[in-house]
Formats: sequence, C-alpha cells, structure tokens
Amino acid sequence: MEKILVLDFGGQYSQLAARRIREQNIYAEIKPYTKITVDEIVKEGYKGVILTGGSYSVYDKDAAHYDPAIFEAGIPILGIGYGCQLIAYTAGGKVTYADGGGEYGKVELVSDGSALLDGFPAVSTSWMSHRNYIKQAPIGFAVTAYTEFCPVAAIEDSDRNIYGVQFHPEVSHTEYGELLLHNFLYNICGCKGDWKMETFVEEKIAEYKSMLDGKKVLCALSGGVDSSVAAMLLHKAVGDNLFCVFVDHGLLRKEEADNVERIFRDTFKFNLIRVDARERFLNKLKGITQPDMKRKVISEEFVSVFKEEAAKIGKLNYLVQGTIYSDVIDRGSGDITAESLTAVIDFDDMLEPLRNLFKDEVRRMGQALGIPKDLVWRQPFPGPGLAIRCIGEITAEKLNLLREADAIFRDEIEKTGYDRYTNQYFAVLADIKSVGVHDGERTFGNTIVLRAINSDDFVTADWSRIPYEVLEKASSRITDELKGITRVVYDITSKPPATVEWE
Ligand code: XMP
Repeated sequence: MEKILVLDFGGQYSQLAARRIREQNIYAEIKPYTKITVDEIVKEGYKGVILTGGSYSVYDKDAAHYDPAIFEAGIPILGIGYGCQLIAYTAGGKVTYADGGGEYGKVELVSDGSALLDGFPAVSTSWMSHRNYIKQAPIGFAVTAYTEFCPVAAIEDSDRNIYGVQFHPEVSHTEYGELLLHNFLYNICGCKGDWKMETFVEEKIAEYKSMLDGKKVLCALSGGVDSSVAAMLLHKAVGDNLFCVFVDHGLLRKEEADNVERIFRDTFKFNLIRVDARERFLNKLKGITQPDMKRKVISEEFVSVFKEEAAKIGKLNYLVQGTIYSDVIDRGSGDITAESLTAVIDFDDMLEPLRNLFKDEVRRMGQALGIPKDLVWRQPFPGPGLAIRCIGEITAEKLNLLREADAIFRDEIEKTGYDRYTNQYFAVLADIKSVGVHDGERTFGNTIVLRAINSDDFVTADWSRIPYEVLEKASSRITDELKGITRVVYDITSKPPATVEWE
C-alpha cells in the first residue's frame, strides 16, 4: 500500500494534513519527528514526506530540527509552514522574525509556474499563520510564490524534489490547496491513489486479529456513532472476546435501547451485555435540578454500573474507547466518563482505533463495516441524554412525556424528509406550566419546546427554518396524543447567544 508520512513537529495542522491526503485516496501516517529516523523512513517505503507544524522559531537553540539526511534520501518532501522554514534554514537560507509581525488568515498569493503549483492562477487566496518568515531562500532553491508581506511563500529544489510552502494548503480557505496536494502526491511522489476506506478497515481488522489473539476486550457501547464503529471494528477482529456493555440508563430516546440490542446482539451477534439500570439512575437523579449536577451524577453512576459489570467478566486485557480526533483536540470538553472509566477498570492497555479520524471519516468507516446507514448518519445525542432536555427535576412521568413528544417530532421531520435539511432536532420538556383548554374546560399543563438547528460543527448553530406545516402537524399530534401537554413552542434562537441544548 502506498503511503505518505506526515512528520509532525508539533502544532495544530498535522491531523488535518493527513486527512486531506486520505481524501485524495492515499494513506497518510503521522509520526512525531522524534519517533522515526531517516533509515526507518526509507525502510518503510514512504512515497513522500510532509513536514508540518511547529510553534517554535527554527533559529532558536531548542527548536525542533531533523536529520538533514532526509533531504538526500531520494524521497519527495513537502514542508508546510514551519516545515518550509525548516527546509530553508537547514539548506542555508535565512529565517527571521517577519517584518510587520507575520500574517494570519487569508492573503493574496502571487505564484508562477512550478510542478507543485501547477494549475494555480497568477493570484489566488491562501491561508497564512506565521510570525517568522524566510527572508532569503537557500542557494539551489527557486522562489515560486510570494505575498505582500512574505517575500518567500513557496520554494523548490525540483532536482531533489524538495518543496516548501509557507501557507497552509490543508486549510480549506486556501483556494487551490487541494490542487497543490494533488500535484505533490500524484505528480511529484507518483502515487496512484489506491487507498480506500474498505481496504483500511480490512487491514485494521487483520492487525487487531493478530495483535489481540486470545485476549479479552471490553467496550462501553452507547449506541452512538463513535462507540458503535469502534466496537464493530473490534468485533470483526476478536468476535466473542469483545465484551460490549450497554448501560440502559433510561435516558435514551423512544425504543433506542431495544434498537441497540436488536442491531448489535440479534443482527451482528455481539457478545452484548445490556444492563437495565433505569431505576438506579432515576433514584440517583431524584431532587437534582442543576444541569452540571445531573451530568456529574449520570457520569458517576455510569462508571459504577460499568465497573460492576466489568468485574463480572474477570481479567480484561484491553479497554476500547471510541475517542475521535475532535475529542483529542477539544480537551476542554473532555469526556469525563471515558476518563473515569480508565481509572476504575483493571485492564492492561487501551485501544483507541478512531483517535486520528474526523467525524465524517468515522461515519464512512462505519458504512464500510456494514453498520446500518441510519445509525452511522444519525444526529448527535448527548451522553446525559434526555436528562438535560427534561428541565428541572427528573421523574419517570416527565421522561415519558418528553420521550413521546420527541418521537412525534422526529417522526414528522423524518416523514417529510426534513431530516436532510437540519442537523439536530429534538424536543425539550420545559419546566413551565401554562393554561390550556380541553373539552371546554380550563386545564393547566406542560410545555414542550421543539428545537431544530443547522450547524457544521455545533460550535455555532442557526435555528432551522422548518416549514410551518411540519411544525403544525407535530404540534397538533403532540397535544392530541399526549395528555398533560397544553402548549408547544418552537425555539428560534441561534447559537450564540443560546446553546443547542437547553441545559
Ligand atoms: P451545546 O448545548 O453545548 O451543544 O450548544 C453542542 C453539541 O453538544 C451536544 N452536547 C452534549 N454532548 N454531553 C454530550 O455528549 C453533554 O453533556 C452535552 N451537552 C451538549 C449537543 O447535543 C450538541 O450537539
């Protein structure tokens, strides 16, 4: 299999570069610069090496440098950002603090003919993020692009196939970034692009098969995309030696727990342990109204249920976690449950097969593994589940009302095909009573809030313009079919200032 090495000098762009390469059907591996030697790179047979990242100044005493033998190894090299400066500095060019303090964001790039920039117009937009720059290119290198404040924005030594760009082709704001990577991978490195998710999945399964032979592997299956994909991968490798514990905390959507059991135990023959912990969670949540407290209690209870189940299995060798790349970078919102699990479960090692993948890559992996489409493409659902959509104190009655109203709303959205135009949609049971009229009598009932949002990353979101007809149908069904609900409202706030969830 042809593969590219992303040699990581720290910083934020390595994973994105690797992903862009995979998007071009070529496998990319990331290695920290301290973890691989030039001899090993040659032995591994990489078709090309990309030098990325680095938040240092290359001229500093303690800056990250690499064995210059890499430039003589006969492997095409592309340096991006710091990687470009490293090439220039190592080859005798001049790298200094940028006059004017560097460039950040979109800039106009002027370029002329070069194998790397083949197809670029004379002027295009590129994304910059640098405080140092190359003041003078090294001897033997041509300067093939510049910007207003960056005299050397691209360099190349085409005889040795060494290229460098100060801008970031992997960032989507760089207009011709994809083309640049294509030129490097296909024209300069000579790749054919034979990598597919299906092949990757087969190789991963084979790798786990030999590595985990006879070992016991434990996985917490939530029914969400990430844990389902991680579990499926491991199930294909170790079969019944994968013990999947699914904790039914009673905070799932209508029929969800049964669906998880049906798909994973009945269809895929998983060794699935379903734990009915509904009472336990309800008891623990009694009297709690603070959202953060709800989250804390749910997380702690989940960990203790899981710990008890794990103890019943006996000696475990591995714990699988469905950590994906966004969890790794977004440490601020780190999954406290996952972290606590590793602390209380006795196991030898951890497996995180999705750690380097972006969400859409995880979904594609799920499809390649044969997981049903509606599960793989399903909308996000928070770990604490309906608990943070049932405002105020949680009771079994309130949860039931919410579950039914949510099911009706989702049904109407899906029936009319509007699920294709909104990214997350659900019901909330507000802690507000209001007056209604039923059979001519005044009643006092609950309020259901319908929420639907459009968002790429859930960091910002816009409220979805669901047609009135769909909202009207959902509203009348909710009030007709559910006793105790007298009012349905639609949330028309975006994020910010609101958040997606109500708690
Ligand atoms: P917010 O409400 O923060 O939601 O705008 C952004 C996205 O995160 C989900 N969310 C959570 N997911 N545990 C989770 O696993 C949580 O406690 C939690 N709170 C919010 C939310 O559904 C939305 O997709």
